[in-house]
Amino acid sequence: MFKAISALAMFSAALWICASPVQAGPKVDWGKINPSLKTATSSGSIKNCLDCHEDYIKSFARTKHALYFKKALGKSLAESCESCHGPTSAHLAEPDFDKKQSTTISFKTITPQQKNQICQQCHEKQVTLHWRGSTHEIANVSCDKCHYVMARKSKRRLSINEDSKKACFACHKDKRARMLRSAHMPLREGKMDCSSCHNPHGSLAPNLLKAATINETCYICHQEKRGPMLWEHAPVREDCSTCHDSHGSNHLSMLKMKPPYLCQACHSNTFHPSSLFDQGSTPRDLLGKACLNCHSRIHGSNHPSGTRFTR
Ligand code: HEC
Ligand code: HEC
Ligand code: HEC
Ligand code: HEC
Ligand code: HEC
Ligand code: HEC
Ligand code: HEC
Ligand code: HEC
Ligand code: HEC
Ligand code: HEC
Repeated sequence: MFKAISALAMFSAALWICASPVQAGPKVDWGKINPSLKTATSSGSIKNCLDCHEDYIKSFARTKHALYFKKALGKSLAESCESCHGPTSAHLAEPDFDKKQSTTISFKTITPQQKNQICQQCHEKQVTLHWRGSTHEIANVSCDKCHYVMARKSKRRLSINEDSKKACFACHKDKRARMLRSAHMPLREGKMDCSSCHNPHGSLAPNLLKAATINETCYICHQEKRGPMLWEHAPVREDCSTCHDSHGSNHLSMLKMKPPYLCQACHSNTFHPSSLFDQGSTPRDLLGKACLNCHSRIHGSNHPSGTRFTR
């Protein structure tokens, strides 16, 4: 009976670990990062740290990591500390109150690559699968620029801010400006964020996009634009960003240019007048929604006689 129960327990524990999204990455060589840790070993009990670091221990204990370390990895709270800060026996023997030669791993002094390596011990797969070689990795951006792990600063994803966009704006200021333009997707209203379209951890697509191409990224939400249509408008199939600025613009529907100029960038020689200086052109052709007054099915048409996208 006992055997059966413990076998069951082991089986479900194994299931837990398999189901856990955390995958073991390469181990960190702590002595290489900080030579004073070369011979250090784990010091085991959290009691040893409480005297001096009670605040951090308490706030860390409320994060998702503390919970999962216990559940998925069977680690005590003190061992938890050591998975990111290295073995602590040397530190316990002589904490350096002058901070001249720290006997711990401090994220204030190590390189971005070392920080990322520490996190990647457990986060090699899933969302961070394409981290290596990604634009952010190459630009020396580290995990702690967007995540804070020592306390719960946000409800989701250990984000450094409640609003994950703020972390992005610290470096991508131009995008904040774009989002404030009159035509934009509901980012500033909080219904979307940068990671609706981007994977900041890296992807196989250009521009850290979530899906394989720009259009596939747009189709995640704008499925009705996917087609196929009876009559396709070539540039729509090719690239939504030919006409739209994904981050916001001051023209109708986030267009990059105002119609008719947008259309005239490609259609200069239509049979009907296309400039105010052409004879016979009327405001209806060129003002307001201009070409769109008539060519309203601009993304393609399913009407049998919709070849010109007028219906
Ligand atoms: C006697 C007090 C004392 C004890 C006990 C102690 N520490 Fe420290 N700890 C310090 C001091 C002082 C510093 C700052 C100087 C330094 O980095 O050595 C520090 C720094 C640290 C840092 C680096 C912080 C940073 O980023 O600058 C970590 C991590 C740390 N301790 C973890 C632990 C852990 C885990 C334990 C228990 C195993 C522990 N400490 C026990 C006093 C202590
Ligand atoms: C998941 C990795 C991780 C774990 C686990 C972890 N830490 Fe940290 N710790 C960090 C990072 C990253 C920072 C730097 C935070 C920052 O300022 O961005 C840090 C910072 C600190 C600091 C210094 C804060 C300061 O003043 O700058 C102390 C002290 C510390 N940790 C102690 C601990 C203790 C004690 C534990 C165990 C209860 C622990 N850490 C567990 C990653 C971790
Ligand atoms: C440029 C900012 C940024 C950097 C750098 C970054 N992250 Fe993230 N991370 C995010 C955002 C934003 C989310 C939330 C995505 C979402 O809501 O879908 C996230 C989510 C996650 C998640 C949760 C994924 C899930 O689906 O539950 C993990 C795990 C994670 N990041 C780990 C890391 C690790 C490890 C690193 C360093 C190698 C890192 N992140 C670097 C911004 C960043
Ligand atoms: C010892 C293994 C380990 C290390 C080291 C580690 N993590 Fe985690 N991390 C986990 C586990 C386990 C989870 C929970 C599994 C899950 O739900 O995705 C997790 C979850 C997360 C999440 C998602 C939290 C949420 O609310 O969904 C983020 C973000 C994250 N880790 C970032 C980091 C960062 C940044 C570092 C480095 C400072 C780091 N991790 C180091 C094991 C680790
Ligand atoms: C610490 C600074 C920093 C933070 C924070 C940051 N980035 Fe970046 N990001 C960069 C740098 C540097 C580059 C490369 C140079 C450039 O294109 O500006 C870059 C490039 C990018 C690119 C273009 C990638 C490519 O391959 O063309 C995207 C998309 C991007 N970041 C999205 C984000 C998102 C989304 C966030 C927030 C979750 C974010 N970034 C947070 C620094 C940062
Ligand atoms: C609706 C989808 C979408 C959202 C939301 C989005 N982006 Fe983008 N982003 C794109 C597309 C598509 C590209 C590539 C083509 C282009 O530049 O328009 C891109 C390109 C980028 C680039 C690289 C090229 C450049 O313009 O510098 C950066 C950096 C970037 N985005 C950052 C961000 C940040 C930061 C946020 C959040 C404020 C964000 N993006 C939100 C779709 C999006
Ligand atoms: C995560 C979902 C999501 C993704 C991905 C997405 N959109 Fe949107 N988009 C929305 C929402 C929500 C609205 C607002 C709809 C509304 O107000 O009815 C919107 C509105 C728009 C509008 C109309 C804006 C206006 O001012 O009227 C355009 C144009 C647009 N999106 C283009 C794109 C393009 C191009 C892409 C790909 C780069 C894209 N969207 C990707 C969710 C998304
Ligand atoms: C040839 C230029 C062009 C291309 C390419 C283009 N659009 Fe548009 N789009 C427009 C114009 C013009 C409007 C304004 C239509 C109106 O107000 O009648 C618009 C409006 C929109 C709107 C808001 C109104 C609506 O119809 O829902 C969305 C969403 C949208 N486009 C998504 C997309 C997506 C997704 C793609 C890529 C598959 C794309 N567009 C490619 C020109 C274009
Ligand atoms: C990036 C270039 C580009 C832009 C911008 C563009 N188009 Fe087109 N358009 C094309 C191409 C290419 C075709 C296909 C022409 C063909 O098959 O001969 C086309 C076809 C058409 C057709 C059907 C014509 C035919 O001969 O079948 C109409 C009508 C049209 N576009 C209207 C517009 C309007 C209105 C706008 C502005 C909202 C616009 N286009 C913006 C490239 C563009
Ligand atoms: C008053 C309505 C109206 C306006 C405004 C209008 N069109 Fe047209 N357009 C038409 C009609 C009707 C056709 C021809 C339909 C047919 O013969 O099947 C046409 C045909 C076209 C064609 C295909 C024929 C050709 O010459 O290649 C293009 C391209 C085109 N229009 C582009 C534009 C552009 C660009 C604008 C804005 C500068 C515009 N249209 C404004 C009604 C209009």
